[in-house]
Amino acid sequence: MKTILFLTGLTTFITLTSCTPTRKHMREADAQLLQSEQKMLAGEWTGAITLAEQAGEAVKLGIEARPVRKGADGKELDMSPLFEAWAKGPHLELLTALRDSQAERAAAAFVATRHQCTSCHIAAGRNDIPLSTL
Ligand code: HEC
Repeated sequence: MKTILFLTGLTTFITLTSCTPTRKHMREADAQLLQSEQKMLAGEWTGAITLAEQAGEAVKLGIEARPVRKGADGKELDMSPLFEAWAKGPHLELLTALRDSQAERAAAAFVATRHQCTSCHIAAGRNDIPLSTL
């Protein structure tokens, strides 16, 4: 009995600690993206760009911490192509709009970027992750 309890505890511990780095980086990305949007609305373009770049870096670190995990279908899923599609798609569009100080274009890009954050979560079987929005 004690052995079983110990093993259950150990498995839980390993599961929790192996998840933590991704989650920490992802939460950072979520907060940075929101702050970036707030800066943009305040007309602080430089700050908005920096925060959007940091959000991209945080997502990257989150994926690198555990690039392969179980997908929605229960099979192993390589997250790297999904990350690349996100980084080179809506997130790059967001950075470009911010660098060009185009508010309307950036506003649309914030929506599209978060949309693709969520697409990746769904691909990973996590339909339940709420993202911060204004
Ligand atoms: C390429 C895939 C991918 C992209 C892109 C992605 N995420 Fe994630 N995210 C994940 C995975 C996988 C998890 C689940 C981590 C876990 O449960 O261990 C996750 C978890 C999260 C969580 C939950 C953290 C927690 O405490 O459980 C948040 C919040 C989050 N992501 C925010 C974002 C935001 C914001 C973006 C876009 C700016 C983003 N993610 C883009 C794969 C991605």
